[in-house]
Amino acid sequence: MTQPLSETSDSYRTAEESTEGHPGSIPVHVAVIMDGNGRWATRQGMSRSDGHRAGTDNIRRITRAFAERGVKYLTLYAFSTENWHRPSDEVQTLIELIEYAILKEVQSLHEQGVRIKHIGRLERLPRSLQESIRKCIELTKDNTAITLSVAFNYGGRTEIIDAIKAITADGIPSDRISEELVRGYLYTDGLPDPDLIVRTAGEMRLSNFLIFQSAYSEYYATQVCWPDFDEAEVAKAIEAYGTRKRRFGKVEE
Ligand code: IPE
Ligand code: IPE
Ligand code: MG
Repeated sequence: MTQPLSETSDSYRTAEESTEGHPGSIPVHVAVIMDGNGRWATRQGMSRSDGHRAGTDNIRRITRAFAERGVKYLTLYAFSTENWHRPSDEVQTLIELIEYAILKEVQSLHEQGVRIKHIGRLERLPRSLQESIRKCIELTKDNTAITLSVAFNYGGRTEIIDAIKAITADGIPSDRISEELVRGYLYTDGLPDPDLIVRTAGEMRLSNFLIFQSAYSEYYATQVCWPDFDEAEVAKAIEAYGTRKRRFGKVEE
């Protein structure tokens, strides 16, 4: 049986209350743009689907590695609202892989104390997948070792539009609209802002990921493709974070 990861309290923190980049500090919330599965596979003469399979297999190891380093929230970008525009067989593979990952990995993640969340729009996903996602959220809801949020059918712009629609539907008057209120309507309600955004495979862009929440996130990009992103790469990303000086617009005291 898998060893449970250590448990600590799970309080809500805003970006300013979280780690401020003191030398050697550990980010509370790391969000990863898991990119490069296709290039990784193509370079080895494999199919893009093989790359996605290898990428999916990497999730457990990386969740464990971040949790062991004391990261309390890990958010993984697995499928964007724009990824629907890929060829239909690739989209199908990605949906099958998330279903497979839920079947294969959830029990062991649960035993490790991982709380699973989903961010994104559930509606367009197959009903059976929606049901499996709901079940694994329910199963793991009391776990406290690390919160793993899977961004599947996630888009930052869609998230903001959904929030505006819900605020309007609730009849909230404009004088009650504040940053705090808007946060409560985002998919990420209850999660602190990401301290560190990691992107694998070398691109220097957000690709519609956490565009509201990343206002003051530190950014770390590596050339390594997601299937090759291992424990040593986790250590490098955290080490880089520990050298950053975060100011949140203020001057140093
Ligand atoms: C990331 O790998 C997985 C998803 C975006 C779903 P890619 O499939 O984007 O891989 P590259 O960028 O083509 O190499
Ligand atoms: C971002 O990667 C989305 C995910 C990792 C799920 P993409 O490969 O879709 O991003 P672009 O197209 O390079 O911007
Ligand atoms: Mg890509």
